[in-house]
Amino acid sequence: MQRTVLEGVGSYLPKRIVTNDELATRIDTSDAWIRERTGIGQRHIAAAHETATFMGAEAARRALAAAGASADSVDAVIVATSTPDQGFPATAVSIQAAIGMTRGFAFDLSAACSGFVYGVSVADAMIRAGQCRSALVIGTEVYSRILNWEDRGTCVLFGDGAGAVLLRAGTGEDDRGVISTHIHSDGRYGDILFIDGATGQDDRPQHLVMNGREVFRHAVSKLAGAVDEALAANDLTQADIDWLVPHQANRRIIDAMGKRLGLAPEQVVVTVDRHANTSAASIPLALDEAVRDGRIRRGHLVLIEALGGGLTWGSALIRF
Ligand code: UT7
Repeated sequence: MQRTVLEGVGSYLPKRIVTNDELATRIDTSDAWIRERTGIGQRHIAAAHETATFMGAEAARRALAAAGASADSVDAVIVATSTPDQGFPATAVSIQAAIGMTRGFAFDLSAACSGFVYGVSVADAMIRAGQCRSALVIGTEVYSRILNWEDRGTCVLFGDGAGAVLLRAGTGEDDRGVISTHIHSDGRYGDILFIDGATGQDDRPQHLVMNGREVFRHAVSKLAGAVDEALAANDLTQADIDWLVPHQANRRIIDAMGKRLGLAPEQVVVTVDRHANTSAASIPLALDEAVRDGRIRRGHLVLIEALGGGLTWGSALIRF
């Protein structure tokens, strides 16, 4: 079967690290509360020059280097972000220019924390339809710019960063590649996680607003459905999965999904402790870490899943 093969992965994290203790000097919170409720210990926060384009381009260059590919060989750039540099041109187009790509096409995709899973799904469909032969799928986020730093219920949860993968039409000679993707949304829940003031129709600053308890409740049930769907669609069982690389929002949600799949804790890739929630960047950042340190190797079956504002959610099964 001809599949879309994942050829390389790369990521970028801002230099500056902000610990829970540092946040506790500014707002009414504590390292103990943040760790216990979320598993987060620190997050990276972007400097002025570390924009969505800057970080996404760096992650893309590293994914290309890991694949031994040049920017000329790429047909498409798909960027998942909720924090673009500007309304338009799309961040994807800015990244296209930044990495020296002068042909093909580039566009942004808005699916909040599920953006990377959506991006893989769209790229895989376009590659299999023959519309392009290769695509960079990039998640790049600067949530520090849309957080209300006085709201302790949200500002402790997020961080900045970017991750990228290079996908290419496979030769069909082996079973590597994207096996399936499943994406969903339900706009009835748009009011439990959103960016306030995003229409620009009044003077309100753009801030992320979240009803954490409600999002948590939906995450546990909808993600369970998305992973079951991925296995059932491919006649696979939990035992076939080598690695779960979940969206990194909350350690409790991550552990619940690992348990549900009957995986050993060591089979679940966790970065939320060091990166916090980097939205669309969290899965490719986690993939990059686990590929670089040798955990995820060629032939391994990896399940990714995410839920985010929209609500949007989904899963993908990829054989490395
Ligand atoms: O990536 C997109 C998807 N997002 C998610 O999946 C996030 C899902 N939700 C969550 O991860 C959790 O709901 C949170 C981590 C956001 C919150 O955890 P929780 O266990 O649901 O806590 P809570 O919101 O019910 O708050 C419990 C208490 C409250 O105090 P009272 O009302 O019980 O007195 C909060 O005011 O904790 C208080 N609290 C804090 N205390 C110290 C809230 N934020 C903080 C804080 N430090 N930063």
